Amino acid sequence: MKLLAGIDIGGTKCAVSLGRPTMDGIEIVGKQMLPTAGTPEFMIGSLLDGLDALLATAGAAAPDAVGISCGGPLDASRGLILSPPNLPGWDLVDIVGAVRQRQAAPVALQNDANACALAEWQWGAGRGTDHMVFLTFGTGLGAGLILNGRLYAGANGMAGEAGHIRLSEFGPVGYGKLGSFEGFCSGGGIAQLGASLALEQLQRGHAPSYCASVSELGGITALRVGEAALAGDETALAAMRISGDRLGQGLAVLVDLFNPERIVIGSIYAKLRPLLEPPMQAALKREALTHALSACSVLPAALDDRVGDYAGLSVASDALRRSGQSG
Ligand code: BGC
Ligand code: NA
Repeated sequence: MKLLAGIDIGGTKCAVSLGRPTMDGIEIVGKQMLPTAGTPEFMIGSLLDGLDALLATAGAAAPDAVGISCGGPLDASRGLILSPPNLPGWDLVDIVGAVRQRQAAPVALQNDANACALAEWQWGAGRGTDHMVFLTFGTGLGAGLILNGRLYAGANGMAGEAGHIRLSEFGPVGYGKLGSFEGFCSGGGIAQLGASLALEQLQRGHAPSYCASVSELGGITALRVGEAALAGDETALAAMRISGDRLGQGLAVLVDLFNPERIVIGSIYAKLRPLLEPPMQAALKREALTHALSACSVLPAALDDRVGDYAGLSVASDALRRSGQSG
């Protein structure tokens, strides 16, 4: 039976896991989480020490493949992390080279959205499809494209940077860009929408439930706006309607371009779906080509909060399949 190692590099925490593919999924046999701290060299060394410990516990000498998932931008083909905004100090890190110094198995690096796409495709809501788009709707917005039954990563791994698409000349900032898809559809974006609508209300003498005064505007988070919206706060609901409408507009671009049979959306969408889905569907119907849309269903991620646990493992599984020894 194959043994896969997955490494997930995140802005606040990193993880290494060991998994065994089963008939209908993957069994996670061990996992270690570490706070992201210190130099990249130190962090990678600690993760590889963790991998050694997990292997020892599992009674195995080596994994059959190692997969690494990390936020972009990165160069997957050269195995380089370029300088992700959420990983200060991680500039031009040859992570694949570093892992290869300690592991002889195939090693692959993927953008986190691509890795999550692989995970949802193999083990989650994208199962059984040949054409699927996965969207992270979390801290950032990124897309992973499964086309013709395999991951499409592009010329240098940058395919699917959907968060960078500008949807409007005005609006919240995401990816350093005003009115971008990430600006409207991410944690930071929802917080910005919540704050600007709260300011309008405060200027009219009404305080939304999630912001009592102007001095609180800076502390607004997506979590607070989302909770207020779920509790029926009108201003928070308006923020969710804007985000959902822009989500549909962005999805329409992806539907028209890729004609996917399924779109799977993670994190915030999976949590706030009752609020985001109606405006998203309305915008999608308005914006996308009917014939393309008729072939496509939109689902929340099935692996949900656990998708990160599977992201690196799914890259390992993909590396193994590409190296022709899957099974
Ligand atoms: C990054 C993408 C990443 C996404 C989700 C975006 O800001 O540019 O590479 O996939 O966030 O983490
Ligand atoms: Na991507």
